[in-house]
Amino acid sequence: MNRSSLSPRNVVLVGFMGSGKSTIGRGLARRLGWRFVDTDEMVRRAAAGRDIPSLFRDEGEAAFRDRESRAICEAVEGKGQVIATGGGAVLRPENVARLRAAGTVVWLTARPEVVVARTAWRANDRPLLAGAGDDLLTHVLQMLGERGPCYQDAAHLIVDTSDRPPHAIVEEVHRKTLRARVPTAEEQR
Ligand code: S3P
Repeated sequence: MNRSSLSPRNVVLVGFMGSGKSTIGRGLARRLGWRFVDTDEMVRRAAAGRDIPSLFRDEGEAAFRDRESRAICEAVEGKGQVIATGGGAVLRPENVARLRAAGTVVWLTARPEVVVARTAWRANDRPLLAGAGDDLLTHVLQMLGERGPCYQDAAHLIVDTSDRPPHAIVEEVHRKTLRARVPTAEEQR
């Protein structure tokens, strides 16, 4: 079997904040010799370097989501990339459709306590977690409950990141994405 014929055009990582999208995405891109693209980073660049908390504060969440959708449209034009998305990218069905058409979508999961441990120390960098204070776990559980179906709908594959070091997760994502035979955008039409 020709392995390259199984290779997806892109690997797209979706998942909740703190699920490891950036860390795993960078490692996977290195492993594949592909470009790493981060839609949060694209949003910041397009906003002349303003950070995400200030975009939420000054323009509101809807405007941020518009910026995020534009970044996704741009990112999916390329190929041979690992694309890490923001945790809320799956909230808009049109984003999900574009991401699924662009390659293999991997949902990175993590147990709620793990999400809290990974995000608590810099919760202020994430406007949707800032202000939760001691109730971070409750807040995360509620958001995960609301968003779970969106991640589920977006995902071709699911990989849990809770209990293993990044290199082991990179290997699992690599193995599974090579094996997954995801229909091309043309075949999905
Ligand atoms: C968000 C997740 C963040 C960032 C923004 C909104 C969300 O990205 O896009 O703060 O709605 O879950 P990370 O998942 O990379 O933290």
